[in-house]
Order: sequence, then structure tokens, then C-alpha cells
Amino acid sequence: MTSLSIIGCGFVADLYMRSLALYPDIKIAAVYDRDSARCTAFCSHWSLSGVASLKALFADTPKGSVILNLTNPSSHFEINKVCLEAGYHVYSEKPLAVDMDQATALHTLATKRNLLLASAPCSVLGEAAQTLGAAIRADMAGCPRLIYAELDDGFIPQAPHGNWISDSGAPWPVKDEFEVGCTLEHAGYYLSWLIGFFGPVLTVVAASAEVIPNKTQSGNCAPDFSVATLFFESGLVARLTCSIVAPHDHQIRVIGDKGVLRVEKAWDNSAKVSLHRRIKIRRRLLESPLAKRFRLKGPTHPKVTRKGAAAMNFALGPVEMIAALKENRPCRLSSDFALHMNEVTLAIQNSGETTGAQQMQTTCPPIEPMPWAK
Ligand SMILES: NC(=O)c1ccc[n+]([C@@H]2O[C@H](COP(=O)([O-])OP(=O)(O)OC[C@H]3O[C@@H](n4cnc5c(N)ncnc54)[C@H](O)[C@@H]3O)[C@@H](O)[C@H]2O)c1
Repeated sequence: MTSLSIIGCGFVADLYMRSLALYPDIKIAAVYDRDSARCTAFCSHWSLSGVASLKALFADTPKGSVILNLTNPSSHFEINKVCLEAGYHVYSEKPLAVDMDQATALHTLATKRNLLLASAPCSVLGEAAQTLGAAIRADMAGCPRLIYAELDDGFIPQAPHGNWISDSGAPWPVKDEFEVGCTLEHAGYYLSWLIGFFGPVLTVVAASAEVIPNKTQSGNCAPDFSVATLFFESGLVARLTCSIVAPHDHQIRVIGDKGVLRVEKAWDNSAKVSLHRRIKIRRRLLESPLAKRFRLKGPTHPKVTRKGAAAMNFALGPVEMIAALKENRPCRLSSDFALHMNEVTLAIQNSGETTGAQQMQTTCPPIEPMPWAK
């Protein structure tokens, strides 16, 4: 039996609990939220016992275990730091921190203390991403020349988000989502795949804007649209788009010399990976409308049943950390990976109208494929 503890009992914590339920060997040691009513509602829904302070959470969490930081982004730095200082490995919801000085300080602290520090999302370890990675390595589409990745969510300000309530009753945190912005919230869902497959980004050329004003009363919102061209050290080029404005589109297309590999759903671990071969018919060149599905041969990982927008196993990241600790091996979601993801994401988010090419200062190797995807 391995234990982990949770800080932050809001909307996403319920998604983690539905995923962690797939791993009966993991026990929740302690749960804390600074909002005691939220902590109580969450704990009574999942039959857990909450504690009233961080000090009490540390007292109930065995040293050397993993703590999940599921608080709002503005609390990530403070909570990640205090957990590392207390001697725990940390899995943080994204972003690792809202500025690079803070993210670098966390990375330095984790390295000094020899602790693991990882950041969501972990869907790069999921079946859809791992299948796409295997299809690229198997040269299904030929040499990848360009990638288009879209994380457009639809016109979210007009969505009935007031009705989006988590299992234990937490409302979707609309104000926080708009103030943090869709790039910090979502770019990682494909950036992690791209950096995981192809290694570090050298240069970001991006633009971001707020195209729907006054989404909250404070008027203090982050960009609701961004588009980035990413130049990888490997020579690959990718375009990544994030918005809560354009019609829903979560596809990624890997365009190679022989055709296009495509995944339609970023948030579904079971999403199909399909190959559209390039064909010539008389005077025309086209990508075949008939897709060939690429599958891995053996079993992969436990899946959550589909509910709401995402069919994602949120526990894959924490489970990978626990396995790395047990097996005394590097964690696929390393602190170098988290820091590089943070730098690229912030570069896109903060690009605005006039920022030119931004050279990245951090780096990380690609992620070793999961054993079942090799
Ligand atoms: N909402 C989603 O669909 C979703 C999906 C994936 C990831 N995320 C990420 O999960 C994180 C949390 O988002 P959420 O939607 O659950 O937000 P939320 O507002 O519903 O929940 C966050 C909880 O953290 C608690 N908290 C904040 N600061 C704290 C602190 N210093 N100490 C203790 N508790 C603290 C709050 O009281 C709140 O209950 C964010 O980083 C977000 O990017 C959210």
C-alpha cells in the first residue's frame, strides 16, 4: 500500500479521485483545503477524513511520499515550496508556477533536496499519446515535417458553465479560469506530447490576445486566444493554438512525408490514432479520407469512464512518480520537463501583439515511452 496526500479539494480534485479509484493500492493519507466547508464536502463524498491545517497534513503524511497540489494556480508556488521544504515529492497541477523566477526556485529546491517535482498534465503517459508516439516512431506517416495542434474549447463565456458542478459539489471556477487564461490552463495538453516526443523547444514565436473583453467583473482576464509557432531543437516545427472562443477543436495532426497522423480528442485516453495516407488520383494529390487506425498490441492502463468533457486518467502522473520512487529510476515527468513546459507556456501566454522570437533558456530530454508502448 502506498499513500499520497491531497491539498486543494475543488473541481479537479474530484476528477483525481475518480482516477485514483482505479488504483486500490494507493491510499489517501491526508486531505486539506483552506476552505474548510469545501474540505468537508469533498471528504464526506469520498469517505475521507480532512485535516484543518497544512501542519496537520504533514503530520499525517509519511515522509518521502507524494503530495498532490490541486490548488488554484495563484497558490501553486507557495504550496509546492512548503511541501518540498517539508521533504515531500510534489505533483503539482499546471502551471508549476505563474512566473519563471518562482518555477526556477522550485526546480532548484527539488534538485537540492533530491525530491521529485512534476507538473500536470500527464496525458502524455496515456494511451492516445503513447499510441501516437509509437506510430511516429514506426514511421507510419514518414518523417514528420510539421504539426498542427488545436486546443480550441468553443465560445466558453456563453457556455452554461454555471451548471458545471463536480461530483462533490464544487462549481467550475469560472473567474479563476478566465483570469488564469486558456493558454496557462490548456497549452500543456499538447505541449507535453510534443516535448515528450520531440524534445525541447528552442524558439517560440507567438501572439496572444483577449478578444472577448469583460468576462469577469474585475475585468482582469488573461488572453483568451493564443497561437504559437514552436521551433524544436530537433528541427521540427509545430503550430499550437489555444482559445475559449473558436469552435471546439482538439485535434492534433502530425504531417509527414507519407501522410497525416491524427488524433481528434486531446482529453480522451482512448482517442483513436488514425493515419491518412497521401495519395495521387489523376492530377490531384490528397490525404486519403479513409483512415487506417493504428493500435498498440497489448494492454495499456486503467481508464476512467467518460463523464463530462474529459475521459482522462488524472492519476497517471502520480502513479508514474510512485513507480519511479519504488523502482529507484528517473521519473518520466521530471522537474526539467516541468520547468521547460512552464517556460514555453509562459512565453506563449505573455507574447501579446508585438513580442518577437523568444529563445528558451531551459531544456529537457524527450520522455521515455511507457513500457507497453515500446
Ligand atoms: N477545472 C478543471 O476542469 C481542471 C481540469 C484540469 C486541471 N485543472 C487545474 O486544477 C487546479 C485547480 O483547479 P480547480 O478547477 O480544482 O479549482 P477550484 O477553485 O475548484 O479548487 C481549488 C481549491 O484549492 C483550494 N486552495 C487554493 N489555495 C489554497 C491554499 N493555499 N491552501 C489550501 N487550499 C487552497 C481552494 O480553496 C479550492 O477549494 C488548477 O491548477 C487548474 O488549472 C482544473
